[in-house]
Amino acid sequence: MTGTPGLPPRRAASFPREGRAVEFLAGVGVAFALLAGCGSEGEPVTGEPPAGARDVYVEACGSCHGADLRGTDGGPPLLSVVYEPGHHSDESFRNAIANGTPQHHWDFGDMEPVEGLSEQDVETIIAFVRSEQRRLGFE
Ligand code: HEC
Repeated sequence: MTGTPGLPPRRAASFPREGRAVEFLAGVGVAFALLAGCGSEGEPVTGEPPAGARDVYVEACGSCHGADLRGTDGGPPLLSVVYEPGHHSDESFRNAIANGTPQHHWDFGDMEPVEGLSEQDVETIIAFVRSEQRRLGFE
């Protein structure tokens, strides 16, 4: 029992309000789910990508954006200043992967959606791209 000396034990004191507490906690849970769901626009994924992230990126994006992120004949360099977090948020990465993106900055044609990636893969790829952008700088 962990009650403060001199006060009734916690359990006894909170018993009549237990129902409310549960309601409150459920509310907090919903708020959290909503926050997590909208993926904080504009806020870059910080932290280091997990081991093997480069392979996930190269496999899914390297054929167009280059294994070194410097682009190919099929797609633009992700080290371009165009893709700084201030210009293209992490959300725009999620969106490009899920829905593709019509040609608008370059002359490579449209980007098709990239299929077969788990949510985890997507976050891994974004973390990798952001860490390479930090490491190599924008060009
Ligand atoms: C088949 C080629 C191809 C592949 C594969 C590809 N992309 Fe792209 N991507 C493009 C092209 C082309 C554009 C440029 C569209 C434009 O702005 O003109 C682009 C644009 C983007 C953009 C900018 C979107 C915007 O809002 O302007 C992001 C972010 C991006 N790609 C990320 C990725 C990531 C991450 C992957 C791997 C999961 C990937 N791409 C795979 C061709 C590709």
